[in-house]
Amino acid sequence: MIDLTGRTVYVTGAARGIGAAIARTLASAGGRVGLLDVDAERLAATADALGPSVAYAVCDITDPEQIAQAAARLQRALGPASGLVNNAGRNAYADPVQMTTDEWEEVFDVDLKGAWLMARAVLPGMKAAGGGSIVNIASLHASQTCRGMFPYAATKAGLVGLTRSLALEVGAHGVRVNAVSPGYIETDLLTEYFGHHPPDVRKAALHKHILGRLGTPSDVAAVVAFLLSDLSGFVTGADWAVDGGLSARFD
Ligand code: NAI
Repeated sequence: MIDLTGRTVYVTGAARGIGAAIARTLASAGGRVGLLDVDAERLAATADALGPSVAYAVCDITDPEQIAQAAARLQRALGPASGLVNNAGRNAYADPVQMTTDEWEEVFDVDLKGAWLMARAVLPGMKAAGGGSIVNIASLHASQTCRGMFPYAATKAGLVGLTRSLALEVGAHGVRVNAVSPGYIETDLLTEYFGHHPPDVRKAALHKHILGRLGTPSDVAAVVAFLLSDLSGFVTGADWAVDGGLSARFD
């Protein structure tokens, strides 16, 4: 039902997990998709499986020069971006006293600054075209969090703040900016998270989701596709929970 024919969307962190599912969903909806990731091997394999409407660029989203080169490559292959999905991210498991300033910056560079750098690269084209849509993949940690993940909640709360701030700055140019906050989604990152916690945490996570299951990358991708499409034409500055109801409950 969602038609992205004629749209070009760049997706960061697209080699695997939620980003790969987003790329797949957008390509199925008729979009041209530019995949970006630091993991060259997996990125090529993911892109190759998606067919001719995609292109990819190996890119560390914390590096403005790499972003400029990647954007130029994708623009040559697919045209300027009318959509951007800032999905690349990493977890953090630091101790607030032991953490060094370098480690702090490494986390914030990927989970927050990279989204601004990517937006900065595509916004001139979107403004010139008179519109566009940016979706930032935040997290339920933007509003609630758990012990042992310092300072992940700060980066994701910052990303939701960036979403609002950017939405206000670019709305007059027809560019919409929204966040999506997933609950627990079955990916390698979640496996890594469970590896940092006792075995009963997985069972507890299942209980917390009202719908009685963990999410899939496709659950997130469907909402992202909606936010990129004209069906969401009056939606901007918002944070969409895709969390099986987790954030609605108290017990
Ligand atoms: P993942 O770890 O499976 O995939 C993340 C991808 O981002 C990887 O392919 C990785 O190579 C890439 N990446 C990491 N740093 C990068 C950089 N500097 N430049 C370019 N690419 C980079 O993670 P997953 O689970 O697919 O998560 C995607 C997003 O969703 C992240 O922002 C994460 O914080 C968020 N999220 C995930 C949840 C989950 O339960 N899996 C829950 C809530 C939010």
